[in-house]
Amino acid sequence: MGLFTKKPMHLLMEEAGDAEKGMKRTLTAGSLVALGIGAIIGAGLFVRTAAAAAQNAGPSVTIGFIVAAIGCALAGLCYAELSSSIPISGSAYTYTYATMGELLAWVIGWDLVLEYAVGAATVGIAWSEYLNNLLTQVLHVKAIPFEWCHSPFEHSIPDAVTGVVHSGYINLPALGIVSLLSLLLIKGTQESAFVNGLIVITKVSIVILIIVLGWGFIQSSNHVPYIPEPTIYKDSQGISHNFGGIMGILGAAGVVFFAFIGFDAVSTAAQETKNPKTAMPIGILGSLAVCTVLYILFAHVLTGVAPVEFFRTDGKEASVVAAINKFMPGYEWLGKLVTVAILAGFSSVILVMLLGQSRVFYSMSKDGLLPAIFSELHPKFKTPYKANLIILILVGAFAAFIPGDVVGDMTSIGTLFAFILVCAAVIILRKTDPDLPRQFKTPWVPIVPILGIIVCAAMIFGLGWTNWLRLFGWLAIGFVIYFGYSKNKSHLKD
Ligand code: ALA
Repeated sequence: MGLFTKKPMHLLMEEAGDAEKGMKRTLTAGSLVALGIGAIIGAGLFVRTAAAAAQNAGPSVTIGFIVAAIGCALAGLCYAELSSSIPISGSAYTYTYATMGELLAWVIGWDLVLEYAVGAATVGIAWSEYLNNLLTQVLHVKAIPFEWCHSPFEHSIPDAVTGVVHSGYINLPALGIVSLLSLLLIKGTQESAFVNGLIVITKVSIVILIIVLGWGFIQSSNHVPYIPEPTIYKDSQGISHNFGGIMGILGAAGVVFFAFIGFDAVSTAAQETKNPKTAMPIGILGSLAVCTVLYILFAHVLTGVAPVEFFRTDGKEASVVAAINKFMPGYEWLGKLVTVAILAGFSSVILVMLLGQSRVFYSMSKDGLLPAIFSELHPKFKTPYKANLIILILVGAFAAFIPGDVVGDMTSIGTLFAFILVCAAVIILRKTDPDLPRQFKTPWVPIVPILGIIVCAAMIFGLGWTNWLRLFGWLAIGFVIYFGYSKNKSHLKD
């Protein structure tokens, strides 16, 4: 027994059966689609789209969205098969444990921290950008000083008059919002799902409104050339990016891939879902389909309304509202409405990411790979409240002290890596456990999973070597913890 020990399928199924005794089953297929959209539409669309246009692809960020959507759809079909055959919490982590053994399961569980915890921090940071909009443009009060809403690695654009450059200390609003939502989660997912439902409706309406109203303000000159000539773009922090051409599109795909993250978070809530075998595939693929259409149209409008240069300078932060205010005269009300809706919308994303993270840690702790404290349920609320509090410290540290661009790309690369393993898991499980009842079967196996692996790997390639290094560094820390602790404490070791 050891690194390649696989968790036996019958054990997983028994645990799924036991779930009634643990968490409450309250979510339906409909609430899963809402949970999915709640997790999907967020900072990726309202912050990372403009960043990808500015740093990677200009208007061809729309093609980046198409590449990312293809990768997600392929991986989504694989997620749906696994979540309908292994309907218990833990997402890609659980699937990997059953198919590829303990070491890879640990790798994926650790990697999912990038997706959920670091992802929640990224959205918290985006929330902080839009909070300043709320203060200055809706409430007409003073903005939070740059120092208190940026990480120590960020510097402001020089003041037009004085030339003064500010440096950040800590991002307090980002820290505040992740703390508040962690406390809400501890109270329970049923209430959270209800609040989430309201926010999802608002969020989708806002995206449609921007597409419809913004369409009339598209300047065709902003879309020329649609795919810029390949060059190197150096951003204000001194980091170089491949801009234009195929590499630009792949880089943009990797960046805006962030906007799709979340549909897989649905699968982490399997233990709280009624009839998960049919509800899961509907939740995963349904929410993905709705968002893909909205994103491509939204990116087309955004890059048509404002030129790329704008997103590198004045429109670098809170880009969507900045573009509305500057290039859509008479629509300041829309800017205000979007600000309020986005703040609520980002909150629902953070909520689902925090939920996903606590459920992954819950599963890992049940298996002995993490200390028991991560799976202790609250006596009344039945939520893993201690895990939520520890995650709060982790997410809070990222949100407060790391720049949004960095955590955003770390989230993308970590999730892409997880998707690759999920695609591989489908192929392996078909061979090792062909008779396992599968409510939903991925079509054309192994072609779909193999294509999923190729498209996700291409996006990882596009994200560039700084991000590859960050992923390796993160995994290296994970190996130290695994060999120092988890390997010996695993419940499957003897
Ligand atoms: N997809 C989520 C977002 O865009 C993570 O914020």
